[in-house]
Amino acid sequence: MAKILDGQALSQTIKNEIKAEVSKITEGGKRPPHLAAILVGENGASKAYVNSKVKDCKEVGFGSTLLRLPETISEDELLAEIQKLNDNPEIDGFIVQLPLPENFDQEKIIEAIDPKKDVDGFHPENFGRMALEMEAFLPATPFGIMQLLERNQVETKGRHCVVIGRSRIVGRPMSILMSSKGNPGDSTVTIVHSHTPNIAEFTKMADIVIVALGRPKFLTGDMIKDGAVIVDVGITRVDDDSSKGYHLEGDVDFDSCEPRASWITPVPGGVGPMTRAMLMKNTLIAYQKNFR
Ligand code: GUN
Repeated sequence: MAKILDGQALSQTIKNEIKAEVSKITEGGKRPPHLAAILVGENGASKAYVNSKVKDCKEVGFGSTLLRLPETISEDELLAEIQKLNDNPEIDGFIVQLPLPENFDQEKIIEAIDPKKDVDGFHPENFGRMALEMEAFLPATPFGIMQLLERNQVETKGRHCVVIGRSRIVGRPMSILMSSKGNPGDSTVTIVHSHTPNIAEFTKMADIVIVALGRPKFLTGDMIKDGAVIVDVGITRVDDDSSKGYHLEGDVDFDSCEPRASWITPVPGGVGPMTRAMLMKNTLIAYQKNFR
């Protein structure tokens, strides 16, 4: 029986810590931290994500601004909106919800964000600083996973961590953080991805497996070793007959992995809520560093 890496509970603890900080700030007569989000177009999942970020802001006492822009907006117009947020001293941090509609140059848009307000940690400057083990905004999902490991005192030093997936948002930064100095960290890291011929060959050797592939139930019990730590980043919407019309499925086949694992994240209630909490944490950090 594996122990549960409970992201639901830990995210609540972290949000409560942030809320307490915000109370101190506002009791001192200062304005609370303020997060803005830009949403371009009508992607259903993106709308839901952005709405939950606004809800999280309310919960912790932050101000929030949601800028909804039509898919027909030009790249220059979007860049102008980003510049306004960069220049606005009342906005501590902001995000541009991804994916952007296909006609936008995503890298160009991300590079336009002031790195000091880049609370997603997606700007090349923040990514580079993270890779060099300098102070940086860490992308929320990897940051959340590091917190889950740290606060549950999961040993990572000298252990073999296999990261499945190499995305800019999760897999690649995760691999950097796990191999960085410190605790958690100090792991020996292997990244596997869609061009790795036999992924199971690697996962069977792993002490820690972090799966961020977006393929429901990809990792099965026969692919891991006894006592492995299993972190599931997947959240794929799978259609069903429920009132919502879908449910969320992780990349890990929980039922076959759980009996062999020492620690495992559930879906939902694992990495997802941690990601949301760490965006709030980054916004608080932006507020504290930039202007006060
Ligand atoms: N799309 C999926 N995850 C994220 C995220 O963490 N930030 C942004 N901006 N877009 C996303």
